[in-house]
Amino acid sequence: MVGASSLLIADIGELVTNDPERGAGPLGILRDAALVAERGRVAWLGPSAAAPAADARVDAAGRAGLPGFVDAHTHLVFAGDRASEFEARMTGHAYTAGGIRTTVAATRAATKEQLAAGTTRLVAEMLRQGTTTVEIKSGYGLTVADERRCLDVAAGLTSETTFLGAHVVPAEYENDPQGYVELVRGPMLAACAPRARWIDVFAEPHAEHAFDVDAARAVLVAGVQAGLGARVHAAQLGPGPGPRLAAEVGAASADHCSHLTDDDVAALRDAGVVATLLPAAEFSTRSPYPDARRLLDAGVTVALATDCNPGTAFTTSMPFVVALAVREMRMTPGEAVHAATVGGAAALRRPDVGVLRPGARADLTLLDAPSCVYLAYRPGVPLVWRVVKAGAVVV
Ligand code: NIG
Ligand code: FE
Repeated sequence: MVGASSLLIADIGELVTNDPERGAGPLGILRDAALVAERGRVAWLGPSAAAPAADARVDAAGRAGLPGFVDAHTHLVFAGDRASEFEARMTGHAYTAGGIRTTVAATRAATKEQLAAGTTRLVAEMLRQGTTTVEIKSGYGLTVADERRCLDVAAGLTSETTFLGAHVVPAEYENDPQGYVELVRGPMLAACAPRARWIDVFAEPHAEHAFDVDAARAVLVAGVQAGLGARVHAAQLGPGPGPRLAAEVGAASADHCSHLTDDDVAALRDAGVVATLLPAAEFSTRSPYPDARRLLDAGVTVALATDCNPGTAFTTSMPFVVALAVREMRMTPGEAVHAATVGGAAALRRPDVGVLRPGARADLTLLDAPSCVYLAYRPGVPLVWRVVKAGAVVV
């Protein structure tokens, strides 16, 4: 780690700024660029030949740079794994979301230290792959005390914490799902709201133990009244009310969006809801990918995220997600890079990340490649060369 107060990154062959006023195209690309970070923020960027001096210097030697990835949807606080469920799926079993309860049991049985160690390890794995902002959900505790401690663990690692008490109805409420909804929107929300920025709900008529539209609305409205921003697991396994509910409650993001009607697309666009697409989940459940092209062509802002969780998407890799989006979802490499950076920032309503301009947080990923196209062109290859977070070289 370079611990100087200002840092110059020189000779960046291609720099994605995501600021169209600063460079070419929607990605605002600068060639032969340099960037100076000071006190955690971008202080200057421009032609490398005109760069001012700084206390420390990284010579990118013509490599490509882009804003650190913004992974706006993860479920990192859990214990155990579900490798055998994945293995069974790959022999033809369908995903039903029933396995969430397996992870809930393992998570409840773990100590807080074990949960914190596992989550910390995953966040470090993300950082090594260029992710500098991560959202982390609860949702594998599902009691007041267990959700609270999952959010405590998450809050130790990010400011983007999400209360997902309405992930599924836990086994002990099997015969009283309405009672569980009352618990979530009452005492559980009261305990969790001080630790969370967001509230999320699994609104999915096609999943075992998930929530119908009335229950999902009740939970989201209570969360918004408690001062949280809304986001929704919407239309993951089949068409459903999630996307329109997201629009109705003014959610920042509708996530998954794998099965959308024309009305859903229009509702997301008209309400300015970001569609956060999670193709690693389709990869790991062998399901049809969301139609990113349709959303982009309709003018919906698209984000890409990992959905990292032990059931449907046990990956921390945004480069993998970018490659999937390009190969399987008809996104151009530029659109995928945009969605994985400033798209994720929009899904979290964070104007300070996902973009490189003076005043923004100095979060930058440098690739051992001449352009960002390589993220999709060289899938599965560890291309991340250096990661700068808040102006410090951390990888
Ligand atoms: O986003 N869909 C709901 N939640 C997760 C899956 C969680 C699990 O299977 O453990 C998702 O895919
Ligand atoms: Fe998810």
